[in-house]
Amino acid sequence: MKIKTNVNFGNIRQTYLFSEIGSRVRAYENANPDAKIIRMGIGDVTLPLPKTVTDAMIKACEEMGVRETFRGYPPEYGYAFLREAIAVHYRSLGVEVDTDTIFVSDGAKSDLGNIVDILGNNPVIIPDPVYPVYVDSNTMSGNSITYINGTKENGFLPLPSELTEQIEGSVIYLCSPNNPTGASYDKDSLKAWVDYALKTGSLIIYDSAYEAFISRDSIPHTIFEIEGADICAIEICSFSKFAGFTGVRCGWTLIPSSLMAGDVSIMALWKRRQATKFNGVSYPVQRAAAAALSKEGISACESNIAYYKENARLITELLDEKGIFYTGGKNSPYVWMECPEGCGSWEFFDRLLNEVQIVGTPGEGFGKGGDRYFRLTAFGSLENTKEAVRRLKEFL
Ligand code: MLT
Repeated sequence: MKIKTNVNFGNIRQTYLFSEIGSRVRAYENANPDAKIIRMGIGDVTLPLPKTVTDAMIKACEEMGVRETFRGYPPEYGYAFLREAIAVHYRSLGVEVDTDTIFVSDGAKSDLGNIVDILGNNPVIIPDPVYPVYVDSNTMSGNSITYINGTKENGFLPLPSELTEQIEGSVIYLCSPNNPTGASYDKDSLKAWVDYALKTGSLIIYDSAYEAFISRDSIPHTIFEIEGADICAIEICSFSKFAGFTGVRCGWTLIPSSLMAGDVSIMALWKRRQATKFNGVSYPVQRAAAAALSKEGISACESNIAYYKENARLITELLDEKGIFYTGGKNSPYVWMECPEGCGSWEFFDRLLNEVQIVGTPGEGFGKGGDRYFRLTAFGSLENTKEAVRRLKEFL
């Protein structure tokens, strides 16, 4: 063919991090078919959906099979019942939001990648280590990225005061509780970022996919708890980790109507983008998501989260015992540990897989700042987590 392709793809890694891990694990499995591998790599949930959620999904499927209740294309920005349920969720966090500012999606990952469509080639500020989607989607669009380093010294919570220069009109990505480090900004630190964005005319893209794991009052569940965020921030959230929807797919993006770039409304651009490129989330999935936000649904989801948090506690208890530095595990399903004896993160990955048959995620996959760190997830079963802790106790 004589077409041109997007040359920016030459600037991202050949394979997506979790695809690379998957292929290494498959190769090991093929060579060792009897090995009892414990998976603590990708942050994928393992508990089944709460009954109240599956009941709602089944009922919605049945409605789709009856002429009178059948529905075709869903409303492009989400059914009113779900947008309202999400607004009520924000109200429970002490934040009033307009339902028209909530856009239902098939998950946070899609929106985090797609948001780049409506933004020009602005300077981009991204913490390192970080969820690879922010870096890859901006690189695919040819944007130049300034990294701000998460380190042991700043507890993997970099602040704008650590930037070597003030960058005007930038797009800043923040994720709290953070993927991969599990570290969480408190109100003052998040306010420092909001103040920075306001001072420099920048936009914050705030990924709150893990907010349901927060158990400390001083940690904000949403950036809109911070004054001024409504004129400088977009929030992207998900039902994946809160309600176990990794396989169901549903999330949302909240774009305040007061968010303006000059005289251009960011919300208007997103509406236009979504209307053109997205046909909405299926009715049964949106009913299931709304059920997850019902009183009964929230309580079932919270008990699943408590289960995962107990796994995280077991992992951090071991690291405390061994005197290994880590972040996360308290307000997060992720434990971000320092590799022992200065071991590199892929080397540690291979050693754990080969010697104790545990799969984790090498920190380097999240950026240079992760090259001596390793991420373990608490999303497995309690039984497997206990077994992994037993194996790690001997190994570390
Ligand atoms: C992860 O393991 O980092 C997450 O599961 C990835 C995701 O949510 O897309």
